[in-house]
Amino acid sequence: MNKLVISADLGKHKIDRNIYGHFSEHLGRCIYEGIWVGEDSPIPNTRGIRNDIAAALKAIKIPVLRWPGGCFADDYHWMDGIGPREDRPCMINFFWGGVTENNHFGTHEFFDLCEMIGAAPYICGNVGSGTVKEMRDWVEYVTFPGKSPMADLRRKNGREEPWALPYFGVGNESWGCGGEMKPEYYADEYRRYQSYVRNYNGKVQKIACGPNDKNYKWTEILMREAAGYMDGLSLHNYTWYNKTAADFDEAAWFESMKKAWFMDDLCTKHGKIMDQYDPEKRIMLVVDEWGMWHSVEPGTNPGFLYQQSTLRDALVAGLHLNIFNNHADRVRMANIAQTINVLQAVILTEGEKMLLTPTYHIFDMYKVHQDATMLPIDLTCGEFEVDNIKLPMLSGSASINAEGTVHVTLCNLDPNNAAEVLSALHGVKASKISGRILTAATMQAHNTFDAPNTLKPADFSGAKLVEGGFSVNLPAKSVVVLAIS
Ligand code: AHR
Repeated sequence: MNKLVISADLGKHKIDRNIYGHFSEHLGRCIYEGIWVGEDSPIPNTRGIRNDIAAALKAIKIPVLRWPGGCFADDYHWMDGIGPREDRPCMINFFWGGVTENNHFGTHEFFDLCEMIGAAPYICGNVGSGTVKEMRDWVEYVTFPGKSPMADLRRKNGREEPWALPYFGVGNESWGCGGEMKPEYYADEYRRYQSYVRNYNGKVQKIACGPNDKNYKWTEILMREAAGYMDGLSLHNYTWYNKTAADFDEAAWFESMKKAWFMDDLCTKHGKIMDQYDPEKRIMLVVDEWGMWHSVEPGTNPGFLYQQSTLRDALVAGLHLNIFNNHADRVRMANIAQTINVLQAVILTEGEKMLLTPTYHIFDMYKVHQDATMLPIDLTCGEFEVDNIKLPMLSGSASINAEGTVHVTLCNLDPNNAAEVLSALHGVKASKISGRILTAATMQAHNTFDAPNTLKPADFSGAKLVEGGFSVNLPAKSVVVLAIS
């Protein structure tokens, strides 16, 4: 029997809603076609932004959106993306297919999108090929309320009031596509650039480029040299798979779960290094790129990173979000890569059609954790094994909201066996339990434009209250959310 102990009276940390954040880059069909179709498109839109996409993103309460990249950010010159669209210069999107970028989606369009879907904007600035002045001017353009050259330019382009800019990233992957820098060098560059990211309209939280997966040295040096100048340090880690999304067997399923569990290790180990320099945990660990990275779908541009999303992606998403919830004291933002049509997208589009991926449904099911108090859990469970390697078969996290409802999200990663869990719930007297489940008959199940509802959450009746807690029977390869009050 698997055992889960939830201490509803011992919650200390908020699960920051920004853990449920997203990332949209000028890459493939994420921005263009996915989000932006232009005002003259036959696809229903508001000021050029697709109505169906805006509504679907709003429904899962996307709290924060990172833009414009990714690698694209360190090639992007924001002034090319303002003013009348027909006058905006083109550029080459070097990293992503070498296609021509017309800059029709720029600063104003991004803030419009954020306002439409209720997400906080998180801009990533250009350190790799940009200047300090360019970064300084962008912040002034966006946020300065008074009279100034940049604020006046903003007004000339149709926006009187400044926007709030709560989050600003100083470079992306500066150890790689963002300039191939060494950590000591980037730490100095970070200190210089961030000096000119000024607070004109509320505080701009500054996020330094952090490590790639287990580059603990990068974290150490950044924290040693620049902790006092940052509000967040980013972390990137992808769950790689070298074939297309639905082309896998049980061994590959297992491998993906193993890689996804590694995120727990990363949060713990980078967190420990951060603790040495920031024991108060003032600086957030911002996992601003994560998710499954498969081979592209056949017949699509290899530079566009378009992939399908199966039940495996859903389990990987559920596992990551449980891990982030359980590290809520340090992980206070995460951004899945990437919102539409790219990597582990929550939505895929084809012309005017769109479909919600299994990953979308996970974000929908888990949104109950946003800004709730994280509850410590102790989960003792069986293991599943492939080729003599063992993994915990279950993952879980729990929170209590302002109304006193406890939410528990559980993943049964075992593709073959159901799991019976007996849970002790301390500190809450429960009288009601209900749930939703996402699962499917096969590991490879996914939604298509012809069958868009193959995977969607269903009501779940496999949980019941027992003396002192509840019991739940989790089907194989399933994600369940429970509400207990
Ligand atoms: O998300 C795709 C790419 O992955 C991003 O542009 C980059 O930051 C990372 O390497």
